[in-house]
Amino acid sequence: MRKVTKAIIPAAGLGTRFLPATKAMPKEMLPIVDKPTIQYIVEEAIDSGVEEIIVVTGKGKRAIEDHFDVAFELEHVLEEKGKLDILEKVRKSSHVNLHYIRQKRAFGLGHAVWCARNFIGNEPFAVLLGDDIVEAQVPCTKQLIQQYERTGRSVIGVQSVDPDQTHRYGIVDPRTKMDHLYEVNRFVEKPVKGQAPSNLAIMGRYVLTPDIFNYLEKHEVGAGGEIQLTDAIQKLNEDKGVYAYDFQGTRYDVGEQLGFIMTNIDFALRNADLRQGLITGLEEIMERELGKELIAGWSGRR
Ligand code: G1P
Repeated sequence: MRKVTKAIIPAAGLGTRFLPATKAMPKEMLPIVDKPTIQYIVEEAIDSGVEEIIVVTGKGKRAIEDHFDVAFELEHVLEEKGKLDILEKVRKSSHVNLHYIRQKRAFGLGHAVWCARNFIGNEPFAVLLGDDIVEAQVPCTKQLIQQYERTGRSVIGVQSVDPDQTHRYGIVDPRTKMDHLYEVNRFVEKPVKGQAPSNLAIMGRYVLTPDIFNYLEKHEVGAGGEIQLTDAIQKLNEDKGVYAYDFQGTRYDVGEQLGFIMTNIDFALRNADLRQGLITGLEEIMERELGKELIAGWSGRR
């Protein structure tokens, strides 16, 4: 069996949920505390054993390439000023070797993955979407790779979501479950509200066998008028069987405004330099917004 050494990070989306912030800046560069969201994704891939990453970009995404490039002037200035801790953080992002390809039209996620077919060739590969950051003891993608190595089949990362959120995701109709691994009747992209077959949602982490390209190349249009990766996965599932794996770890939804803000607060609270100041600041805001009684109850519960 071939090892998974390659990954695709689709990053061509327009970032409409964050406009106007994303008018001239890729949404993947929006920071969680001090790191752009895409860097968390790249680091997960590397920590999972991936050796080569291709980012599928589009118009207006050049800042991503600059971010992962060497910044000689900046590094020189930081070195001269003795800011070595910051220098180390800056260098961490320059030492990653990424490949890039452009998706020339916004035809959807399935099409974005298809754009990277020549880079992938005839090997299994991972796909990591940037709308979710996953914190886990064993990196999420590594968990999926381990399941692929056990089964030889494509494996899709899933977790339960609130039943009233299923319309936002690809949803799995599970058949059988062994430990955290499901055989699947159907993968459905963004089911209509109230018609989801379960609340197990695709969380933007995939390990796919290269035969997925046989289905993607048909360019069939699905939900939202786009070429959907989920539809191709369902076709592959019908022919060869695809597993869903309920991975361990905490997922942070950074693809919409509220989740993005909450994730920033959550990560900042775990940063020793920011924690106390943030708690004090949040208490002040809560007190101003909600009144003294509520904040007293809130502090008491902590
Ligand atoms: C994409 C996938 C969907 C998945 C979701 C996870 O949708 O098409 O199956 O559940 O990512 O974030 P998007 O959010 O890009 O519309």
